[in-house]
Amino acid sequence: MSVLLLKTASQVRTQVALLATQARSLALVPTMGCLHPGHMALVKAAREKAQVVALSIFVNPLQFGPKEDFGRYPRRLKEDLKACEEAGVDWVYAPPEEEVYPPGFQTQVYCERWSRLLCGKTRPHHFQGVATVVCKLFALFRPRWAVFGEKDFQQLCLVRALNRDLDLGVEVVGLPTLREEDGLALSSRNVLLSAAERQQATALSRALFCAQRRCLQGEHSAWVLTEEAKHCLLQAGVRIDYVEVVDEATLQPVARIGAPGARMLVAGFVGSTRLIDNILLSPGGQIGDAA
Ligand code: PAJ
Repeated sequence: MSVLLLKTASQVRTQVALLATQARSLALVPTMGCLHPGHMALVKAAREKAQVVALSIFVNPLQFGPKEDFGRYPRRLKEDLKACEEAGVDWVYAPPEEEVYPPGFQTQVYCERWSRLLCGKTRPHHFQGVATVVCKLFALFRPRWAVFGEKDFQQLCLVRALNRDLDLGVEVVGLPTLREEDGLALSSRNVLLSAAERQQATALSRALFCAQRRCLQGEHSAWVLTEEAKHCLLQAGVRIDYVEVVDEATLQPVARIGAPGARMLVAGFVGSTRLIDNILLSPGGQIGDAA
């Protein structure tokens, strides 16, 4: 069966109402498009859970700052629809901007603490934009499951928090990061990199895997691991935004990697493109248990 392209909230509501009469379950995969195998892994997980899979494609202006890359963010609806068709997505919701934010739009969702940490320091309005659009999508689709990637770890934490805090009742599923063979985390923004920048970008995952290895070998000081990761990034010419080791449940910095659940998060600029990545640092874990 071919994928159903929905452009308006009203079309979505009609389909959702129809599903309810058929007692069929729905999983939602929110994206900004320019789909890659990382997105398709989320679709696969959604397929395994639900009878109907919806994928949204919307480059959300609210989560980009005025000086960020909203204008040059890659858009490829035709190719995305083909990929969705092949992956067995049932509905693609690709609304125009004015459908999501019509004139008079004024309500936003703000996660109090976590919006200001890590990526939120450099991108002060980003998570408010993410929380608002995710909340709108949850309200519109009322899915039983929504699938997100650990690649955007802070975003995943925020979505879990808003889902709980606002009683949205969605089962939020988080999936591990898919990587290129050389370790680079798949990202829509990778297409913006030149060949030289693409090479430089591997420093992010290299720094993370190195920290994970050093941790397994017994180096448990977050400061030492952070300094080593920074060194690796600087050597490759990456302009560091931050490197932090945090408790993955609270996103608060940890000084020593003791109990499981410490995660290193990095963000940096390769040329003018900002990339992020993260990895679990568990002293007793297995190498390659990356996110
Ligand atoms: P986007 O960057 O398109 O990502 C959509 C989903 O794909 C997110 O849950 C993200 O974590 C996941 N993803 C991206 N790269 C991945 C990879 N290499 N492996 C596994 N999953 C990966 O994140 C957004 O869009 C937006 O902020 C959105 C949530 C749609 C709100 O606008």
